[in-house]
Amino acid sequence: MGSDLFVLDDIQAGYGRAAPVLRGFSVNVPRGSIVCLVGPNGAGKSTVLKVAAGLLKPRSGRILIDGREATGFGPQRMLAEGVALVLQGHSVFREMTVEENVRLGAYTVKDKAKIAERIAFVKEVFPVVADRWGALAGLLSGGQQKQVEFARSLMVDPAVVLLDEPSMGLDPKATGAVFEQVVRMRDAGTAVLLVEQNARRALETADIGCVLDLGRVHISGPASELLADPQLGELYLGGRPHV
Ligand SMILES: Nc1ncnc2c1ncn2[C@@H]1O[C@H](COP(=O)(O)OP(=O)(O)OP(=O)(O)O)[C@@H](O)[C@H]1O
Ligand SMILES: [Mg+2]
Repeated sequence: MGSDLFVLDDIQAGYGRAAPVLRGFSVNVPRGSIVCLVGPNGAGKSTVLKVAAGLLKPRSGRILIDGREATGFGPQRMLAEGVALVLQGHSVFREMTVEENVRLGAYTVKDKAKIAERIAFVKEVFPVVADRWGALAGLLSGGQQKQVEFARSLMVDPAVVLLDEPSMGLDPKATGAVFEQVVRMRDAGTAVLLVEQNARRALETADIGCVLDLGRVHISGPASELLADPQLGELYLGGRPHV
C-alpha cells in the first residue's frame, strides 16, 4: 500500500440548520487500497461519501487529493480531480444498453482514443460488460448491473472510487461477485472507499477498516484486526464469526 491519496480531515458536516451529522470525522485512503467504512444505519456513512464527492460542502475540516487542497470543490471538480461516486441503490439506466450506460461515464472525456482505451479496459476488468455490451441494462441481474455501474465510474480513470453499499439488494452469491469486482478495481490501480452494511464481508475484502458511530471514527485500523476484535464483533458485526 502506498501513501495517502485521498484524505478527509476533521470534517464537520450536516444538513441545513440541523446539528452536524459528522463531528470531526477523518479518514485516509492510501494508494492501492480498499478502505471500508462500516457503522449502524444513520451513522453518517453516506454523508461521508457525499462530502467526499463534493455533493455536500463541509462546515469545517479539509479534503486533500494527493496532497492538493480540494476543500469546497463541487462534484464536477471532484470528478475532474479523480474522485468518482457510485450511489447507494441501483443507478443504471434500464432502458439504455450496457454500452450506452458505460459511455455516459465518459461524457467529460473529449478524446475518442482515450474513450476507446477505457472501454477496452473496463471490458477486461468486468467480463459481463463485454459479454452483454449490446443488451438493455434493465435485463441484467442486480449483480451484473452493479458491474455496469462500476465500469461507468472507471471510464474517467479515477484515482479513487467511492462505493455506497454496492451489495445492497443482492443475494449472497451476487454479493460475493461484487466484492470480487471491488478487489479487481483495486488491483487495476483504483483506490476504493467502500461503505457497507454487510460489515463482516466488507472487512474481509478491505485492507483498512473504519467504524463510524455518532459522526466520528469509533475505531480504525487494518481490516483483519477489526475483524478479530471481539467487542467490535458484538457491537457492529452481528456477533462472533462462525468458525
Ligand atoms: N438529505 C438529507 N437531509 C437531511 N438529513 C439527512 C439527509 N440525508 C441524511 N440525513 C440525516 O443524516 C444522518 C446520517 O444519514 P446517512 O444517510 O449519512 O447515514 P448512513 O450511515 O448512510 O445510513 P444507512 O446505513 O441507513 O445508509 C441521518 O440522521 C439522516 O436522517
Ligand atoms: Mg447510507
